[in-house]
Amino acid sequence: MDVAITPSTPQDIVTRLRSAGCVFAEDEASLLAEAAESPDELESLVRRRVAGEPLEVIVGWAEFAGLRIVVEPGVFVPRYRTRFLVEQAIALAAEGGGECPVVVDLCCGTGAMGAAVLATLPRAEVYAADIDPDEVRVARRNLPADRVFEGDLYDALPEHLRGTVDILVANAPYVPTGEIAMMPSEARDHENRVALDGGADGLDIQRRVAAGASEWLRPGGYLLVETSVRQAPTSASIFESRGIAARVEHSEDFDATVVIGRTAV
Ligand SMILES: C[S@@+](CC[C@H](N)C(=O)[O-])C[C@H]1O[C@@H](n2cnc3c(N)ncnc32)[C@H](O)[C@@H]1O
Repeated sequence: MDVAITPSTPQDIVTRLRSAGCVFAEDEASLLAEAAESPDELESLVRRRVAGEPLEVIVGWAEFAGLRIVVEPGVFVPRYRTRFLVEQAIALAAEGGGECPVVVDLCCGTGAMGAAVLATLPRAEVYAADIDPDEVRVARRNLPADRVFEGDLYDALPEHLRGTVDILVANAPYVPTGEIAMMPSEARDHENRVALDGGADGLDIQRRVAAGASEWLRPGGYLLVETSVRQAPTSASIFESRGIAARVEHSEDFDATVVIGRTAV
């Protein structure tokens, strides 16, 4: 015999979400209600959320810099703090004065950073690449699909970009391997490991990004990476060791730290 599900009232849903630890329970309840096409589907979405699945995966999108970025299971959900890096990149691209700056989003994940650049600078030539096929598939839904490439860092990029890139942004993984176990379950259990693991000190991928950057940037081009306050001095010295002049920018508002490097003119 089928057991009918008693539809939850909006207040019940808020209460269940709050009991499960959702801080913004009212907002989440509204987003789940918007995503569901029937009361049964709403009940199933609420159960998934109560069980700990990230809200963005359940509703299929994440808000980033005013855009709805498509998200699928396993991919890295773009973080609010990363908007700081994007704002710095957009300012540098606009300042450069070029009509159509060439921007590369390396380790692009969903392509959120590239999409935000394109939304502000529609004439920019934005390319993106990632090693994880799940991320590449999703990035192709958020960016022009023919400009998203799959592969290990620079190996993925088309040859014609060598030496031409104005702005290279890379939110590479920067969590030290030993600290992944301390991350919130939403990241640890629901995002692919390759999106998080930065090696022993968290900066293995940044080292490789910095090592190859001068070959792909034009003279006077910029490299921007996200890092933490603690790691920033090491990130900056990695840039300097590759001949890239580096400065650190921090935003209290975004709780974000970015290293901005410039190759010699
Ligand atoms: C922290 S996530 C950031 C994703 C995206 N840039 C963002 O800010 O939302 C790091 C990304 O780097 C990618 N990645 C890790 N190692 C890589 C490599 N060797 N080459 C290319 N991408 C890599 C992961 O698959 C993941 O998508």
